[in-house]
Parts: sequence; C-alpha cells; structure tokens
Amino acid sequence: MDVHNDVGLTAYLVNESRARREDLAGDPLAREWISDEDRGAVRDLWDEFGGHVYPHDDLVVSLRGRIILDTLAEALAKRSDMVLVVCGAGFSSYPWLLPFAAAMEVDLPELVAAKRRRAAELRAAGVLDQREVEHIAADLNGPEARRRLLDQIRQFAAGRPIAYVAEGLVFYLPPEHARAVVGLGAAAGPQTLTVVSYWPLAAADHSVLAAQRRWFRKRSIPEDASYLTTSDLSAVVGAPVENHSTEDLQRRYLGEVVVPETELIPEHVAVAGS
Ligand SMILES: C[S@@+](CC[C@H](N)C(=O)[O-])C[C@H]1O[C@@H](n2cnc3c(N)ncnc32)[C@H](O)[C@@H]1O
Repeated sequence: MDVHNDVGLTAYLVNESRARREDLAGDPLAREWISDEDRGAVRDLWDEFGGHVYPHDDLVVSLRGRIILDTLAEALAKRSDMVLVVCGAGFSSYPWLLPFAAAMEVDLPELVAAKRRRAAELRAAGVLDQREVEHIAADLNGPEARRRLLDQIRQFAAGRPIAYVAEGLVFYLPPEHARAVVGLGAAAGPQTLTVVSYWPLAAADHSVLAAQRRWFRKRSIPEDASYLTTSDLSAVVGAPVENHSTEDLQRRYLGEVVVPETELIPEHVAVAGS
C-alpha cells in the first residue's frame, strides 16, 4: 500500500489521529495497526496534512471513534448475540475492542490485504486475541458488489441483530452510492443499528473542507464529496436519527467545546435503528 496517495491514504491518516489521542478514542490498538517501519512516514503525512488543512484531526477522529465505540458497547450490552459489520473499516479496531458474536470488515482490496496481513502479525505477536474477523474486499461504489455484499451480510448475520458502521466513508462516494451504503445495514435485517459519520449539507462551503479539497487534489484523492442531511439519513434507514456534531461530542467527552466546529472538519455521527 502506498501511504502517500489515493483514498486508502485516508485510512492511515485517521489511524494516526486515533493513535495520538488513544484515551479519548478508547482505542489502545490504534498504534498497533501501522508497523514501526511505516509509522514515521504516516506521522510525517499527518503533520503535513495538519499544516495545510487543519491541526485537529486527532480530536475529530477520536471523538467520532469514541461515540461509535460507546454506542456499539451499549447496543451489545442489550443484545449479546449482535454481529458487527463495518464498511470502509480501514485500520479501525472495533471487532477486537468489543465481544461481538461475529464481525465482518469491508474495504477496498488493497486495504483489506494490508489489514489481513497486519492482523495476522499482531495475532502471532499476541497483541490481538485469536478471534475470527471476516475481511471482505469490495468496491462499495458498485451496485453489483453491494448486492453481493448484502447477501453476504444476511448469511453472516443469520437472523441475529446487526450493528452496522460506516465511519469516515460515505462522503468519499458519489451521492447515490453514499445513500446506498448508508442503507445497506438496514436492508440486511430489521433489527439493525446503523452508525454513520457524514458531512452535513449545511457545511458544504466549510473552509476546512475547502482546504482539504486542495490537499486531496495534490494526492490524487477524488475531491468530489457527498453531503447529507439528517432527513436524508432517516429516509434511507427508515428510522429517526440521533445526531452528534463535533461540538456535542466535545461537550460529552471533554466537558466543553475546546475547538469550535468552524475550525474543524464538520463530521457528524448519526445513529439510527434498534
Ligand atoms: C477515512 S478512511 C476511514 C477508515 C476507518 N473507517 C476509520 O475510521 O479509521 C476511509 C476508508 O474507506 C475506504 N473506502 C473508500 N472508498 C471505498 C469504496 N469505494 N469501497 C470500499 N471502501 C472504500 C478506504 O479504503 C478507507 O479505508
């Protein structure tokens, strides 16, 4: 994997963001996903991103990760037979942080290969326990790939409730595909909890997103983005949405708004379903 270009690069960046705030993120495994050999390059990349786009990605990404982790833990406490499905999983750690009955991670082929490889190394080193996590390679922009994935999720869940996560993903997909990916978990079963991070339509002109577009252009990451509203999300999932802004999350986890959303990537987390 080239850590310097294309959309897979964003998985390295946000992993570094969680590794920098592992207490806030609640993810002690974040630092393990990148080998010592690659970590220096990832840190340099993060610093460059921080200088050109904004210096608070550690805050935004750790807050979103923490609310997702807490939401999943709460759901699992109510339904111990719940299975986890994470789309655009990157180097996130939920399957190893929580005792789900079964877990599936989906990402682009190159990223899946890198995650599988590193997971095997970490299992061998005793850092990860022996639990089985299914890694599925799929381009979520393809309707046929999504149909196949939907069948795989249904089989995998086998009637059990599903916790479905799409974190840091849907804004990179064209609008029709973004909506379809938001709705995938709910389409797979009636007892699905959907947790999705997204950029609100009202923030489409945000100055930090404009700076990020300029930086992405240099890195061959597509700049076009999808923005959504809570009504869009609710219509796709078929349930009311609970919304968490970056300021709500700072109040919840830090007791106050340390950095206003005008200075942050305006990434909100929506939670819907049972
Ligand atoms: C910003 S990263 C987020 C990774 C992870 N969810 C996290 O929060 O650490 C975006 C992820 O989405 C994946 N991704 C982007 N486009 C995708 C597509 N069309 N199909 C599947 N995965 C995709 C990337 O490979 C990357 O792992």
